[in-house]
Amino acid sequence: MRILVVYASADGSTAEIARRIAQRLRERGHEVSDQPVGSAGSLHDIDAIVLGNAVHDRQWLDEATNFVNANRQAVSSRPFWTFSVGMPDALPKAVRKIARTEEDAIINQLGDLRPRGHQLFSGVVKPSQFPLASRIFLHLVGGRYGDFRDWPAIDAWALEIADQLDGAATISDAAKTRLAKQDNDRESTGSAP
Ligand SMILES: Cc1cc2nc3c(=O)[nH]c(=O)nc-3n(C[C@H](O)[C@H](O)[C@H](O)COP(=O)(O)O)c2cc1C
Repeated sequence: MRILVVYASADGSTAEIARRIAQRLRERGHEVSDQPVGSAGSLHDIDAIVLGNAVHDRQWLDEATNFVNANRQAVSSRPFWTFSVGMPDALPKAVRKIARTEEDAIINQLGDLRPRGHQLFSGVVKPSQFPLASRIFLHLVGGRYGDFRDWPAIDAWALEIADQLDGAATISDAAKTRLAKQDNDRESTGSAP
């Protein structure tokens, strides 16, 4: 299958996660292109889409929502998955629960589009990314800085997508075989379609 992995990333950690997912899907035999949302061309030849987004201020970056809105028809007619990259693992447990509620808000941003799956990953959190007020806030709530990407979890999610796509391919192959058999049967009995 031809899969497009597109991403919106402000500081690069979402881009690296997207490239890793693309690589894992390639290893499963798919033809995969990975690129920033702004460079994604026509979706005409694409069979499935994975869309990754950095979370800023509890929302996807504008370029990600613009991509979704500009391609709503094409996205809704293909299997698609989304992932978001935020900072839940940089926060202490009590605050982390609040960060996890972002997922619902993010899915709501998609409107009537229903991804086959959405995953929230933690990304990279550096003091230099934040204005002073946010650094003070993070300090007060006990936030930490670092690279919180969980590569085994990211790989596992990519393989889940590959499994689902393989399942879809198997079903459609089976359907094709059944239809071909029906055609043959009709021809051999001379019955009208
Ligand atoms: C200005 C700013 C706002 C952020 N707001 C959120 C947020 O609301 N929720 C969250 O989970 N992470 C938030 N983060 C953390 C980022 O999502 C995290 O650093 C992620 O790795 C960024 O991805 P990127 O490197 O692809 O830009 C914010 C980061 C920045 C710099």
